[in-house]
Amino acid sequence: MADNCVGLDIGSSSIKVVQVKETKKGVQLMNFGLEPIPSQSIVDGAIMNQGAVVDAIRNVFGRLRIREKRVAIAVGGHSVIIKKISVPPMTRGELEEQIKWEAEHHVPFDPHDVQIDYEVINEENAQGQMDLLLVAAKNELLNDYAAVVRDAQLKPVVVDLAAFAVQNAFERNYGLPPDESVALVNIGASISTINIVVNGVTTFTREVTIGGNAYTEEIQKQLSVGYEEAEAYKVGAVSPVSGEVVPGEVDRVLAQVSDLVAGEFQRSLDFFLATTSGTEISKLYLSGGSAQVSSLQRAVEAKSRMAVEVVDPFFNVTIDETRFDMPYLRAHAPLAAVAFGLALRRPGDDV
Ligand SMILES: Nc1ncnc2c1ncn2[C@@H]1O[C@H](COP(=O)(O)OP(=O)(O)OP(=O)(O)O)[C@@H](O)[C@H]1O
Ligand SMILES: [Mg+2]
Repeated sequence: MADNCVGLDIGSSSIKVVQVKETKKGVQLMNFGLEPIPSQSIVDGAIMNQGAVVDAIRNVFGRLRIREKRVAIAVGGHSVIIKKISVPPMTRGELEEQIKWEAEHHVPFDPHDVQIDYEVINEENAQGQMDLLLVAAKNELLNDYAAVVRDAQLKPVVVDLAAFAVQNAFERNYGLPPDESVALVNIGASISTINIVVNGVTTFTREVTIGGNAYTEEIQKQLSVGYEEAEAYKVGAVSPVSGEVVPGEVDRVLAQVSDLVAGEFQRSLDFFLATTSGTEISKLYLSGGSAQVSSLQRAVEAKSRMAVEVVDPFFNVTIDETRFDMPYLRAHAPLAAVAFGLALRRPGDDV
């Protein structure tokens, strides 16, 4: 069996890298690292500053001394469409032929400009139709991501969606309850993904363009401070600019934005619940760097009336504590969910 790829999560605030080894005993963590990238290098999932992204990838691979060249990456943003569609029942062979035509009805991009993929999520729904999760990603976006990876002297061998990587990370650590529905919400800096897994199957996936930047921007505005200072206040650190401790107003601003963000998530959950009769979501799991805003957990709990837990992507992973800076690893674990999910992929996996 081929070894795992290195999970390379190219996020808009930082690059995250996870490497694991899978043995009969389970998953062992081999490497974990992150490298900040300059703001505006990636905007809405699109790479604006290739050089900065390449440098960051090179830096982190160099620092961690990773020799493996094959990586699994994830794409997202406005150039990716994920949609649940229903088609007449057909064989897999027929589906392979038909999917391009089906996609044309549902994807607002020129069919020549996209790669199409799909997953069967229900062989037969109540109307006798087959339900699929259709994914369309623009070639331009895929080419841009592949180019930065190659420029960093690596080989992109698996391309995934962040939401699916989060699901893989979750499943490997917590298992997917076969008769329960859970919502997995990954909240990064600029994009959040919502993934509802019903009885072990992804049934609903949506991206919303809100994340940790909304907090930073609001602190900047309300406290009249610059980006760096606002970012430091948000994570509860002493300001690098003024050396001041976190002002009391910060919590109030964080709570305000958490309400807004939780409301945004709730709109998606409500949409799902309204269009999927008889399904109840038992628990909501948060991951991504912004899952660490404590008022967000409370706000999501209040709006959704669900239990909310922050995912630890290393929950069920063997870690040699002599090789890792454990406090650093613990403090950054929620950021690693996508990269960990990608690190579980092997070359040649279905993309
Ligand atoms: N302790 C913390 N408290 C609050 N926010 C935090 C904390 N640690 C990180 N963040 C925020 O989490 C975000 C980074 O998370 P993550 O690495 O998941 O995003 P990303 O992958 O870079 O972004 P995206 O996926 O949106 O492109 C930043 O907005 C950062 O400020
Ligand atoms: Mg991210």
